[in-house]
Amino acid sequence: MSIKNVGEPKRIGILTSGGDCSGLNAVIRAVVNCAVNTYGWEVLGIRQATLGLMARPPQFTKLEVDQVDSLLTAGGTMLGTTNKGDPFAFPMADGSLGDRSEEIIAGYHQLGLDALIGIGGDGSLAILRRLAQQGGINLVGIPKTIDNDIGVTEHAIGFDTAVNIATEALDRLHFTAASHSRVMILEVMGRDAGHIAIAAGIAGGANVILIPEIPYTVEHICHKIKERQDKGKNYCLIIVSEAVRTQGGENVTITNRLGQSRYGGIGEYLADEIIQHIDVETRVTVLGHIQRGGTASPLDRLVATAFGVAAVNLIAEAKYDRMVTWQNRQVLSVPITEAIAQYSAVDPNGTLVKTARGMSIYLGD
Ligand code: F6P
Repeated sequence: MSIKNVGEPKRIGILTSGGDCSGLNAVIRAVVNCAVNTYGWEVLGIRQATLGLMARPPQFTKLEVDQVDSLLTAGGTMLGTTNKGDPFAFPMADGSLGDRSEEIIAGYHQLGLDALIGIGGDGSLAILRRLAQQGGINLVGIPKTIDNDIGVTEHAIGFDTAVNIATEALDRLHFTAASHSRVMILEVMGRDAGHIAIAAGIAGGANVILIPEIPYTVEHICHKIKERQDKGKNYCLIIVSEAVRTQGGENVTITNRLGQSRYGGIGEYLADEIIQHIDVETRVTVLGHIQRGGTASPLDRLVATAFGVAAVNLIAEAKYDRMVTWQNRQVLSVPITEAIAQYSAVDPNGTLVKTARGMSIYLGD
């Protein structure tokens, strides 16, 4: 292992892991700017998350400031990513699952890296930390996920952009809903947390917000639609998180012919249930990966830049095994173990739930 003293030039690696989202390139840009211009270090961008370190030769690009300067507004990740292939249970050619962690660790050392910045959600950060502990990798984590379900940070990269996109979708659906006197249902991502739905639902003026954390009844949704009709409002906007269950408590998923399942379909389920109870026309929009792509919002760019600089500064101080966080308008850091231990769902007694209820939005019972 080649660990240089504080103050000596370093070679650091950076990778993006898990699903992409807006703002990842802004982090890469900030890391390269700060590492190269402030400290005079070298930055290697690792390709396709840990797969780049598993490959032989390891797959990377040496990142220069000129190369990343135009990345502030670019969606996706210039390094590529994957949300498959846990190296501790990696799909092997013979169909079994194998442990390929040592190859990744060897890749890190082969490249002569002094530290690694891993940008990921809780799953990716847990894997990276396990690799770091096992193989002497000096890891610093940066949280990203549109789901915003990492407990110790108020903000994960990508969330604000996803909320903006979902809000804009509601703004647009509003007009068609009113023009056609329809119930419009918007299904949004968020995995098991309802953060996107509740934030966009309030910001976008939804009349019904359904999140996995709070149970609902179709009867009460229909009551809301009827109540609006009685007041002369001929339409209703509903936003629903992908992980909301049926009234019977079942997950609604889509399974492909390989047997792989993912959330999807709760919007159509609700539309069908509603028309059985009440005489209205319903339409469903599934926003899908549009929430993850494209130009990041100003807030995501701001936080991405602050996180990138803070991660480089942690390395300069030799403070490893930590993740940067956004708390009370400041960037702080916490041990990665603490970060991955604290899952954050929507608090049923929290401000946003109280706000929605105070606005007579139906949010479940
Ligand atoms: O975790 C981010 C996320 O976009 C979730 O909101 C969603 O359920 C999932 O990833 C989709 O994953 P994939 O890109 O594999 O379809």
